[in-house]
Amino acid sequence: MTSDDALLEGVDPYGAQVLREPADTYAKIREAGPAVYSHDRKVWLVGRYDSASQVLRNYREFRSGLGAGYTRVPEHGNNYPLVDSDPPRHTRVRRSVQPEFGRESMEKLRPVVRAVAVGLVEAATVAGQIDAVSMFASRLPDLSTRLLTGVEPPDSLTMQAWSNAVGQLHGPNLDPRESDLAFQAFNWLSNEGVAMLPKHCMGHRIMEEGGTNGALADSERLTMLFSIWLAGIDSSSGLIGNAVNAFAEFPDQWDAVRADPRLIPNAVEELMRWDSPLRSVYRRTVAQVDVGGIVIPADADVCVLIPPANRDPRRFTEPDRLDISRVDAKAHLALGASIHLCVGAPLARMEAVEFLTALSRRVRRIERTGPAIRAASQTMSKFESLPVRLIAG
Ligand code: HEM
Repeated sequence: MTSDDALLEGVDPYGAQVLREPADTYAKIREAGPAVYSHDRKVWLVGRYDSASQVLRNYREFRSGLGAGYTRVPEHGNNYPLVDSDPPRHTRVRRSVQPEFGRESMEKLRPVVRAVAVGLVEAATVAGQIDAVSMFASRLPDLSTRLLTGVEPPDSLTMQAWSNAVGQLHGPNLDPRESDLAFQAFNWLSNEGVAMLPKHCMGHRIMEEGGTNGALADSERLTMLFSIWLAGIDSSSGLIGNAVNAFAEFPDQWDAVRADPRLIPNAVEELMRWDSPLRSVYRRTVAQVDVGGIVIPADADVCVLIPPANRDPRRFTEPDRLDISRVDAKAHLALGASIHLCVGAPLARMEAVEFLTALSRRVRRIERTGPAIRAASQTMSKFESLPVRLIAG
């Protein structure tokens, strides 16, 4: 089959309305075939689980070196040294930061994350009626990132806006205000942030020592720190907000969490499957390649759509149902797969587990008090506003 046969007309995953209510369009793309070509965006869209998994795992034919976002970046230019690279560079760079996310580091951070999660839940139950985005989703990832990197930004709101703006650069519609904010964030980090880094933190190790194995080139250090600093905020906030929304929609699943808190780690996986925060990742083909019988030509741009792949009925039974006991929940692609599997995954998981543990100990029911409004972010599937009532008990 050629691109003309696999053409999908009139369906744009980046339409303003689609971003707010993406489910139908995502399902249409998935059901149209293993890979479909969008002439408007000049990109191959991959929305089925098997095809998405194939693209993510076959990193030799689907390359990241020209960028893991919509816009191509120069392979040897000013790109992100980890996510926008292929082996052998990727292997070297990954080893320079991977140990920072090991068990020992996470266990060091856990008590502070736990204390903050408990404090936020306490304050929220006293208030009763809250917006779960501003109360929870915006706060915990900001704190964890400070602890991890040692970067102390001006304030939490600025940090949120910066992380959101940097994320937006991943998609096709570049708003000049967001580009300005992303530059502002980079300038702040290079001019002020790195000068304040305490010793014995990840930021210091990256900037002064070239990472844990000393393998980062001088020219890679600032962009490496920048990407880790901001990559985890918008995404983890998405996960926390999406989790609150999911349990407001499925109260029986909240009862199940409370009845057996040992299910929380699996619930976090199922939450990422059911409402995946990152919408897409991009790859570029080096040669013609077959995806489920569809021939994608060489030098093509390929967009893996994560949320529809994680709701693919060919892979998950009753995919639209949230089931925190689902045995294969962890097979989701929300954190990517293979060599580019999210390096921050242990932190994202730990934050979510601590948050849900604290919430489940104090809150019997989560009820909506107004419409849940999804953010029109082209990168993250997350909520802009999520008004809920927390009933303690
Ligand atoms: C729920 C929260 C998160 C989600 C959904 C998420 C999602 C992802 C995905 C899908 C990828 C793969 C990108 C690709 O294949 O091109 C990725 C990679 C990455 N993530 Fe995350 N992420 C999350 C949290 C974090 C955190 C907390 C950090 C850092 C503190 C982080 C830093 C990174 C970095 C640096 C990469 C590049 C890894 C590589 O290319 O080897 N992420 N993330």
